[in-house]
Amino acid sequence: MTDTIHWAPLLLTWFGTHRRDLPWRCDAPRDPYKVWVSEIMLQQTKVEAVRPYYDSWMERFPDIPSLAAASQDEVLRQWQGLGYYSRARNLHQAVCEVQSAYGGKVPDTKKDILQLKGIGDYTAGAILSIAYGQPVAAVDGNVLRVFARLYDIGENILSTEVKKKITVLVQEQLPADNPGTFNEALMDFGAMVCIPKSPHCDICPLQAICRAQRAGREKELPVRITKKDIPTEKITVLVVTNGPYWLIHRRPEKGLLASMWEFPNVMGAGEEGWKAVRNLLQTAGVKVPADCSVPIGTLKHVFSHKIWQMSIYEQEVSGSVDIDKEDWQWLRRDQYTTIPWAGPHGKITAMV
Ligand code: ADE
Repeated sequence: MTDTIHWAPLLLTWFGTHRRDLPWRCDAPRDPYKVWVSEIMLQQTKVEAVRPYYDSWMERFPDIPSLAAASQDEVLRQWQGLGYYSRARNLHQAVCEVQSAYGGKVPDTKKDILQLKGIGDYTAGAILSIAYGQPVAAVDGNVLRVFARLYDIGENILSTEVKKKITVLVQEQLPADNPGTFNEALMDFGAMVCIPKSPHCDICPLQAICRAQRAGREKELPVRITKKDIPTEKITVLVVTNGPYWLIHRRPEKGLLASMWEFPNVMGAGEEGWKAVRNLLQTAGVKVPADCSVPIGTLKHVFSHKIWQMSIYEQEVSGSVDIDKEDWQWLRRDQYTTIPWAGPHGKITAMV
């Protein structure tokens, strides 16, 4: 990553003139309960649809005590029409907990707030930053899209690694004096300028620093690969043991999990995988005696772009087995923490 460019002031200036007038943004200082309710309502519902529900909710349940005292039936009746009713049930349950365990004050630490039903990282970030002025990122789909474009990130934004990477980038920009305003500015920017299909780059206040726009890729981003679109590769892994040793192989210098160590493995499953892995071992000069046996276990590993469905077998070889290839070696089992394992292969050490 190159030096950080601090572009937050550009966004905040834009927000100063273009911010949307929304009912939950009216009070100052901002009431954590109101931020909370609005964020839950906005989770699967558009801003314009939320407005009337938010107003009538606040007339009926203006604060934590009034909502905590209500029956679940009344809460659900008030939510009627917004859909996804578990949101209302969770909110009610969490508000009752805030009333009883926190004396009616919404907790102001990430640890406590995340314990509440229905509050995840995004909602926690929104409440802590908007209502409590804490420098916490609030990363939802809009923010992922905006950052994927600004930083020209072509990896899958639905993957945990990319979400983490983007959270760090948001954190870098968050101004210490008004993090909540910055998070809300991002929400409006994502809803009004950096919109999903055809972003309005012509009026974008961040055009000068947008890497995707510079590369002409703004419409191709973000990349969203859901779990069902990710291809699964079947892998046969053979753990070859020789007394206290395991046979291990160093992956190629380039590509996935480059230069890290793994147990011998091939693509393919069942008989076919077994044959292929024996052939592979022959290239290292190791003869495996038995034929296709029963796997000792299976392991599923999800990368951002593929899934490895691994079947793990074990075979013992005896006597002195020399290997003359530099990418292969015998590793003493008790030394297994001394080498960098290729992702899931490290977990296999606990299975054998
Ligand atoms: N989308 C999610 N949270 C929002 C908020 N607080 N204001 C506007 N849009 C949002």
